[in-house]
Amino acid sequence: MKVLVIGGGGREHALVWKIAQSPLVERIYCAPGNPGIARQAECVPLAVDDVERLLAFAREREIGLTVVGPELPLTLGIVDRFRDAGLTIFGADRKAAQIEGSKAFAKDLMARHGVPTAAYGTFTDHRQAVDFIMSHGAPIVVKADGLAAGKGVIVARTEEEAISAVDSILLEGAFGEAGSQVVIEEFLEGEEASFLAFTDGKTILPLASAQDHKPVFDGDQGPNTGGMGAYSPAPVVTAELHERIIETVLRPIIDGMASEGCPYSGILYAGLMIKNGDIQVLEFNARFGDPEAQPLLARLKSDLVPVLLACARGSLEGVSLDWHDKAAVCVVIASGGYPGSFEKGYEIRGLEEASTIDDLMVFHAGTALNDGRIVNSGGRVLGVTGLGETVAAAIDKAYRGVKVISWEGAHYRTDIGKKALGR
Ligand code: AMP
Ligand code: GLY
Repeated sequence: MKVLVIGGGGREHALVWKIAQSPLVERIYCAPGNPGIARQAECVPLAVDDVERLLAFAREREIGLTVVGPELPLTLGIVDRFRDAGLTIFGADRKAAQIEGSKAFAKDLMARHGVPTAAYGTFTDHRQAVDFIMSHGAPIVVKADGLAAGKGVIVARTEEEAISAVDSILLEGAFGEAGSQVVIEEFLEGEEASFLAFTDGKTILPLASAQDHKPVFDGDQGPNTGGMGAYSPAPVVTAELHERIIETVLRPIIDGMASEGCPYSGILYAGLMIKNGDIQVLEFNARFGDPEAQPLLARLKSDLVPVLLACARGSLEGVSLDWHDKAAVCVVIASGGYPGSFEKGYEIRGLEEASTIDDLMVFHAGTALNDGRIVNSGGRVLGVTGLGETVAAAIDKAYRGVKVISWEGAHYRTDIGKKALGR
């Protein structure tokens, strides 16, 4: 079978790497891909939001399975278009992808189905938003409703900070259309975990647990990023909690969406806050997490392709997942200045040496080819992913890889996975 993966980041490199191991697959294309992906797939210069040309490509090449990595094409309805054309595609359709595309949609859905989440209000009116902030007080969290490339959430320590966030979103249009309304919600404390599950709209097949590291600096200091590293399994998600997340979060959402005529198929990502065994949902994503996908797929023993096909075809019942006993840790190396503005085009050294280390995968996220040299081209550049018998061993492995790679300004956190060791 020929497979098309849409996207060009670390998540898609991990997907391509895993799909390439399937005996069912004869050829992989990736649009647009990146220089790391180019080793396992033929990269096609098509943008992830160019739905019509992606569809034409899939038809022309007789693609048997299309896998959508990022959220943007999902919210644009790529799954609906491919299905209408009779093609098999893994991902949520336009209606269901609103679970990520609109925070108000996700919050209202949770409220209707009794899923635990922070108390909130949704506002288009500036005056009412300010009144809500003043009556609840800080800390408080302000979120642009729509897709904002991970920048639309402001955790405000003071009322002034919250109001200025509302000003910039509702009055100054900082996020354009994505900020036509805001969700303002109660500030939650605890430890975050990422819980992902495959679903065909009926059956729920959970993945192993994972944990991301959002702030840019060690010790969770500094501004939030798309994620500076992740590991799996995450001991904060105990076996008991795992079952409770399925019962109190995933089951009501999947059944609720089906009963509302908006069945969800693909992979559902729940961002959770856990405190003293209590679960609260921070957000849903309609895709694999990035970087969570890297350690999760590195640990997955089962062939991924039959699982993706079963989700897309509505036949997930009876499918199971096998995991390697090893733990996996992914350390992201970012460009100097990220998550602020950064310089690109520096040659990345040490990739050859890293490729000789056993049980180490260097997934490319923001790289480009320039005169035959691999250079940094994005904020998050590489996801250096190590496997080990324990989390401690996986941490050692990942940092062994990180240490041999360098370019001007490159930076990374030195404490990825440490929280797991504390437990
Ligand atoms: P989201 O995109 O909704 O997950 O928000 C991004 C990040 O903001 C989360 O990973 C949390 O670190 C933080 N965050 C979001 N909502 C809340 C909340 N209600 N309380 C505390 N932190 C939050
Ligand atoms: N790592 C967080 C996300 O993918 O949204």
